Amino acid sequence: MACRLGSLVLLFLFTAYAEARAKLASSLNATDGICATMVQTQGYLCHEHKVTTEDGYILSMQRMPMSRSGRAANQPPVLLQHGLMMDGITWLMNSPDESLAFILADNGYDVWIANARGTKYSRGHVSLSPSDPAYWYWTWDELVAYDLSATVQYVHDQTGQKLHYVGHSLGTLMALASFSQHNLLNMFRSAALLSPIAYLSQLPSPLTRAAADAFLAEELYWLGLREFVPGEDAAAKLLAKICGMPGMNCSDLMTEFTGKNCCLNSSNSDAFLNHEPQPTATKNMIHLAQMIRKGTIAMYDYGNENDNMEHYGKPMPPVYNMTSIPEDFPLFLSYGGQDTLSDVNDVKVLLENLKDHQADKLVVQYIEDYAHADFVFGVNAKQIVYNPLMSFFKLQ
Ligand SMILES: *[C@@H]1O[C@H](CO)[C@@H](O)[C@H](O)[C@H]1NC(C)=O
Ligand SMILES: *[C@@H]1O[C@H](CO)[C@@H](O)[C@H](O)[C@H]1NC(C)=O
Ligand SMILES: *[C@@H]1O[C@H](CO)[C@@H](O)[C@H](O)[C@H]1NC(C)=O
Ligand SMILES: *[C@@H]1O[C@H](CO)[C@@H](O)[C@H](O)[C@H]1NC(C)=O
Repeated sequence: MACRLGSLVLLFLFTAYAEARAKLASSLNATDGICATMVQTQGYLCHEHKVTTEDGYILSMQRMPMSRSGRAANQPPVLLQHGLMMDGITWLMNSPDESLAFILADNGYDVWIANARGTKYSRGHVSLSPSDPAYWYWTWDELVAYDLSATVQYVHDQTGQKLHYVGHSLGTLMALASFSQHNLLNMFRSAALLSPIAYLSQLPSPLTRAAADAFLAEELYWLGLREFVPGEDAAAKLLAKICGMPGMNCSDLMTEFTGKNCCLNSSNSDAFLNHEPQPTATKNMIHLAQMIRKGTIAMYDYGNENDNMEHYGKPMPPVYNMTSIPEDFPLFLSYGGQDTLSDVNDVKVLLENLKDHQADKLVVQYIEDYAHADFVFGVNAKQIVYNPLMSFFKLQ
């Protein structure tokens, strides 16, 4: 049992995608890129790109410039940004009729898939290796400041066009944080936020909350580990410890962490145990835990005024103020009634921050049955989410 738990572990923390991992493990070859393994195999043209961030990380991107029938894109570029512990494969896991990247390509969009630093295909750096502790010293602040800006700039330069954005989970926070600082807006046409993560103070899952507390209680230990690899030793021990606490229910971790997903393909769910969740920085996990505890959307807190002064020139970490997002920037926001990471009450706080947004520039979709993973892996997501999303893009 411990072993089984160990192999599942914290993959489900904050974003959880067991099915994804199954197919990944069976279809992927560490020396092959996403184009070769996931896209060309379905009959689509795909090109690999490399983008170097200002702080030296070398990220892989995939471009799908044509429909399956070979029709060149005649719609604007769309940048797809995955969530925590996932990578660009998020958008390619189900069949081409069900997965967003293929659907967009078939509808004439020029599709660009991003892969955050530290994930399987984005482990390069101009001077560091993933075995160097310094390689892992980052949080989503850096994903906003460096990864997002590098990928957006790159797509903009390559295509000469403004782009649409689609983020899932942590990929939504990256965009919201950037927009709140008025960064990159001139390169975007619009943004679609699926299962939005912004405020995290009302997460209902006792398991997630206990995990967040454990990160904060043993912050120095976790920071010392640098790379957080779900399923490996430290993560497995953490989960075993939490599951041993009174009142914890670890019988269904996927549901416990993400909510009750209505619409995943059950024939894929056996493969659960073969998954291969993507690593992240432990500093990033601590940053998210700080948000859960404090209820704010702020930069990483170094925990004391001196260190914060040193990094920010202020005793407290700067806030990403969601009310600062320009009121005329087109946003499509889709959230689910069963989602325990993008909790309905937290989303309501975000929507309250956006209450002065121009009515014709904000589309909000509430899907009663959906939980966190349904937005990217739901077999009916095309009808429920992606068709309305593309209608929204057409209007911008
Ligand atoms: C992985 O990819 C390399 C290069 O394309 C190939 O030579 C090798 O046979 C592949 N390995 C597996 C297990 O498919
Ligand atoms: C634990 O969760 C499972 C599935 O969600 C449920 O069937 C079971 O009754 C729960 N057990 C307890 C003790 O709450
Ligand atoms: C579920 O996945 C199986 C195997 O990949 C596939 O054959 C089937 O069509 C899928 N079902 C749906 C509803 O997408
Ligand atoms: C965000 O900005 C608004 C005005 O734009 C201000 O009223 C509010 O206090 C700010 N919130 C934070 C947390 O700084």
